[in-house]
Amino acid sequence: MENRFWRIERRPEGTDFDEALALVSAPLPDLAQGEIRIRNAMLSMDAGTRLWLTSREDGYQPPLPVGAPMTGLVLGEVIESRAEGFAAGDLVRAFGVWGEVSQVDAAMAGAVKLDPSVEDRRAWFGPLGMNGWTALWGIERTGAAKSGERVLVSAAAGATGILAVQIAKLLGCEAWGIAGGAEKCRFLTDELGIAGAVDYKAGDLGAQLDAAGGFDVYFDNVGGAVLDTVLTRMNHYGRIAVCGLLADYNSGERTAPREFDQVLMRRLRVEGFFSPDFMHEGEALTARLREWTETGELVMPYDVTRGLDNTLAAYRKLFTGGNIGKVIVELEP
Ligand SMILES: NC(=O)c1ccc[n+]([C@@H]2O[C@H](COP(=O)([O-])OP(=O)(O)OC[C@H]3O[C@@H](n4cnc5c(N)ncnc54)[C@H](OP(=O)(O)O)[C@@H]3O)[C@@H](O)[C@H]2O)c1
Repeated sequence: MENRFWRIERRPEGTDFDEALALVSAPLPDLAQGEIRIRNAMLSMDAGTRLWLTSREDGYQPPLPVGAPMTGLVLGEVIESRAEGFAAGDLVRAFGVWGEVSQVDAAMAGAVKLDPSVEDRRAWFGPLGMNGWTALWGIERTGAAKSGERVLVSAAAGATGILAVQIAKLLGCEAWGIAGGAEKCRFLTDELGIAGAVDYKAGDLGAQLDAAGGFDVYFDNVGGAVLDTVLTRMNHYGRIAVCGLLADYNSGERTAPREFDQVLMRRLRVEGFFSPDFMHEGEALTARLREWTETGELVMPYDVTRGLDNTLAAYRKLFTGGNIGKVIVELEP
């Protein structure tokens, strides 16, 4: 059986993904014990995977080798199984291959069977998946946000941020977002009804945040200059939940915050968190998130691109700000 998939040809510079990845075709090996073959119906585009494309050895997981297939979360039907607990016809989500088919060791790929009764399968990549878990964990556990507190989220119109602001609001907090552009800010305030949104691309972010007032919790998706600006707007004893440092992913730079002394001056707690650490709690987190999605209190807009050939254009949106909500590539007709 032939498989078309995206292979890493070299490490990308910035967003030159077209030069760095190539769509190739190769026969699939025989299925080994413990493996499943998934016909991918959807690919999840996640900004964090940009780190796996670098040569950094000090990340939370080793980089993907040049010559390897590009990896990410996939959703689809099992077409063949030699893994216990999985059978042909099961709907699954796993870390698979950006291709037509993912052939993976079910345990190593974190494959999970999904409830096929969920009407909108895209939700398994959004509120009911890693973005949902990350947003809930970061706001509630790492950020320890309490009802009545003021919570600020960066990249607030992206997949993770859009859930984080809504969850903060659901927990009784006053939720604010930082996003690039008037359309995104309007979406956050008018469609989601959060307390306020600040456009970091329109004028002085510091002045806009000063007008908004101090924050108790900052859920940071971007790091860089935005983090520096927020550090001097945190309330005393505030918490900064470091979810991602997107601003550095493409540049390959590591921007240390110049205002780090505010951690001391304002007695802040700064803590990073990574979803692999709480995957074992995934089911319980999903159950809570599902209640909110079923009541319509937690929503996700989807930015859907059709066709494997168009994957890189979809991926690029994460780094150029082209998306509102979750970016997905749909492979099925
Ligand atoms: N810790 C974890 O376990 C975990 C899990 C999932 C995701 N994450 C992190 O969450 C963050 C968001 O990832 P995602 O997959 O949900 O992507 P996303 O938010 O859907 O898309 C990324 C958004 O980030 C903004 N952005 C891009 N470059 C930026 C820059 N230089 N400065 C400021 N904003 C920038 C853009 O929106 P604007 O138009 O607003 O600029 C873009 O739309 C990433 O840092 C990722 O690593 C962490």
